[in-house]
Amino acid sequence: MIKEENFPIIFTKVTEKDIDDIVIIENESFQYPWKRETFESELTNTFSRFFIARKNKDPAGFIIYWDIPYEIHLINIAVRPKYRRMGTGAMLLGEMINYAEMNSKQLITLEVRVSNKGAITFYRKFGFREVYIREKYYVDNDEDAIVMERYI
Ligand SMILES: CC(C)(COP(=O)(O)OP(=O)(O)OC[C@H]1O[C@@H](n2cnc3c(N)ncnc32)[C@H](O)[C@@H]1OP(=O)(O)O)[C@@H](O)C(=O)NCCC(=O)NCCS
Repeated sequence: MIKEENFPIIFTKVTEKDIDDIVIIENESFQYPWKRETFESELTNTFSRFFIARKNKDPAGFIIYWDIPYEIHLINIAVRPKYRRMGTGAMLLGEMINYAEMNSKQLITLEVRVSNKGAITFYRKFGFREVYIREKYYVDNDEDAIVMERYI
């Protein structure tokens, strides 16, 4: 019999029935979580790609990125605390990088809070570099964003 801890992480495109689980992941992951409606609007956004990762049906993480001309823009990525440092974020980010390569994109960009040292280290590990600061980008606490980019 296969043990539950050995079930692989699988990811699928997000549909309306996944939104409750996306909200669970978001609320466990951020001090200032997005509202449910923000995720719902991504479902009808034609240039948005939105995936959920599950381990044995349990929601583990998600990624949203936008396919825009010449570029991919990472909108949000999160992994629930209990599933961190197991490679789930790497799988989700890897899907995005692979998509960028397969679709002849030149660049991937993202914003990250200056205080989010863990995420900055994570992005650096996958070849992203800090390019500039957007002052007071986050309206919830007036925090600055670091813009990071990775050329394909
Ligand atoms: C950032 C995040 C998505 C990473 O997800 P994850 O599944 O834990 O990442 P992985 O297990 O794939 O990590 C891959 C590598 O990235 C680096 N890394 C990941 N998280 C890190 C952290 N907190 N501190 C330092 N390095 C980290 C490590 O090198 C890690 O490899 P290792 O575990 O073998 O050392 C997750 O920490 C998270 O959801 N954070 C809260 C939400 C968030 O800040 N999102 C980003 C918004 S811009």
